[in-house]
Formats: sequence, C-alpha cells, structure tokens
Amino acid sequence: MAYSKCQQADHEIEDVIESATANKGPKLSTIMKSSPFGFWLVQGLIFMFSASVLLLGLFSRRSCLAICETHADVAWSPVIDFVKPRMTKFNETYFFETKFPSPFYGSPSPAVDDVWRTYTMHPMLDGRNGTLAVPRATVEKLGRSHEPGWMDSMVKLVHGGEERYMATLDIYHHVHCLNMLREVAHPNYYTNKDPTQMEGHLDHCIETVREALMCNAGTGVAMFHWIKGDDQPWPDYNTLHQCRDPEMVLEWSLQNAVPVQGSFTKPEGALELPLPLY
Ligand SMILES: *[C@@H]1O[C@H](CO)[C@@H](O)[C@H](O)[C@H]1NC(C)=O
Ligand SMILES: *[C@@H]1O[C@H](CO)[C@@H](O)[C@H](O)[C@H]1NC(C)=O
Repeated sequence: MAYSKCQQADHEIEDVIESATANKGPKLSTIMKSSPFGFWLVQGLIFMFSASVLLLGLFSRRSCLAICETHADVAWSPVIDFVKPRMTKFNETYFFETKFPSPFYGSPSPAVDDVWRTYTMHPMLDGRNGTLAVPRATVEKLGRSHEPGWMDSMVKLVHGGEERYMATLDIYHHVHCLNMLREVAHPNYYTNKDPTQMEGHLDHCIETVREALMCNAGTGVAMFHWIKGDDQPWPDYNTLHQCRDPEMVLEWSLQNAVPVQGSFTKPEGALELPLPLY
C-alpha cells in the first residue's frame, strides 16, 4: 500500500512535468523571439516553474516518507525493490467451487504436491540444490547487526567469488508451515505424517502462520449482500489486495542463490550462538 502511494506521487510529478512541457513548448518559443522583455519573462516563468516542481517534489517525497513509515506493511528487505506490489482480487467463493481454482487448492495429488514443494524446499529452492545467499551490505540493513554475536555467527557462502551469507525468506518458512497443516488435514493421502508424533512441530507451525496473518492484520473490507436462495446476509470475501507476485519473489531468490550439495561443515573456532535464538 505504502509503496504504491509513493509511486503514485512520483507519477503525478512526471505528469505535471509532461503536461507543462507539452502545452507550453511552442508558445514559449514564439514569445522568446518577439522581444528582450519576452526573453526575461520566459526566464522568470521557467525559474518559477522549476522552483514549484522542486517544491512539489520535496513535499510529495515528504508525505510519501510519512506514509511509508506509518503504513509500511513490511520491514526493509532487498526483495521489495525487485518485486513491486500489484492490485489483486481474492478468489473466495466461500463454500462453492471456484471458476478460478489455484494450483495449491484441492484434494492432494502429485501436481498439488509439486506446486507446494516449489515454495517449501528450503534450502532446496525450487527443488534445485541451492540456498539463498545475501551480501554483507544487505545483512547490515536488516536492523539486527547490533545484537551480540549475530553477525559473527552467520554461515558464510561464496557467490561468484563474493562473500555471502546463508539466508532464506519468510515466505518459504510460512508456506512450509501451512503445508504441514495441509498434510495432516489429509491423513488418508499422507499416511506417513502422524499428527500425534509431530504435535510440537504443528503447534510451532500454527503459531508461525498466526504471526504472519495477524502481523498482516487483513484490513480488506468484506461487504454482506442479499443473495438468491438464502434469506440471511452473505459475505463477499473477494476483496482487493496489494500483493507481491510470489513467482517474482522466487525468481529473485533463485538469482541470489548459490548451489549447495549435502550437509555443511562448521569451521574450526566458529562463533556459536546459544539456543534458543531470540
Ligand atoms: C483469481 O483468479 C483470477 C483469474 O484466474 C486471477 O487472475 C487472479 O490472480 C486470482 N487471484 C488470486 C489472489 O490468486
Ligand atoms: C540435487 O543433489 C542431489 C545429490 O546431492 C542430486 O542427486 C540431484 O540430482 C540434485 N538435484 C538437482 C535438481 O540438481
């Protein structure tokens, strides 16, 4: 939401500049040629115009900063610059089969498993043998470098000769957790997943999904309608949302991944953090 406001403000400025140059261009040159007075008048107009564009720019940027800081839906991440938000309408037919089923939806099958796996294979992103690896400059912007030992205990990797650090994105962890809940909801298909054996892990996953949902604290307004065949109000959950395209997030991850095969070897004398991590 915040980002689109910023973009909108920038577009408005561009529009002002464009319409000014488009409309005034020919007229200005005529005045310029007619007299020295005209020349200075034009200089003055140009100066006033530039000054107002500059001021407009400063003000919109300021209000944009204010909006971005108060309504930002995410903390800074290198992915934000790569994946712009886009307006999306949810497909929520509520108890009815949808005309637009998502590939994640429905009875378990190899195809359904495949699409879930695409977003859960950490550190095997997209089923490939790799892990996300970010440069130190990125890590420093995550807001936690002051925590004792946090930077010095990071797992080092090499990305084309450059030093990088092992990472993943929240999306993969969140989807992994939801997927685990999905699997225990279909015990006849996933017969190797015994919910009684994984209670601790499931509770952790419920908490992870809850944190993600309640952090987002869905603010879309669903309206109630009168509908054929029912005499009670019916909710319309097909609300509009600013979403990031998960496929682009995946693309960014793959571009920033390094190949990893097998297990890791802890270097001699590596700084180790005590568990649990806070
Ligand atoms: C809902 O379905 C339409 C049509 O397939 C699709 O364009 C849109 O992205 C879907 N919305 C979501 C949130 O997946
Ligand atoms: C991942 O690595 C394993 C061996 O560790 C290999 O058998 C497999 O083919 C690799 N998968 C891909 C997609 O590269």
